[in-house]
Amino acid sequence: MSENANPAETTASAFIVELALSKREFEVPADKSILSVLVAANIPVAFACEQGICGTCETVVLEGVPDHRDSYLTDAERASNDTVMICCSRAKSARLVLEI
Ligand code: FES
Repeated sequence: MSENANPAETTASAFIVELALSKREFEVPADKSILSVLVAANIPVAFACEQGICGTCETVVLEGVPDHRDSYLTDAERASNDTVMICCSRAKSARLVLEI
């Protein structure tokens, strides 16, 4: 699996992702995606492009503020912070709670 080399000049920092349904949480390091952390932990998640363009990995956000880095959501959808593309987006908040 390739890591997403994001061309945007954004800095990444670690944050906690909490899986509300699975009742588990993980640290997402600065150099790893939410998706890669969950796959490594054998959490079943759907994904395809891993580049933020297909929408397959769209996940409901229950708490926290996503740092949207995809090309799939509309500006309005991004502003609502209701969902996040876990293959490429990160978190602006220290913790992101997902409906997984
Ligand atoms: S896997 Fe395609 S948008 Fe995340």
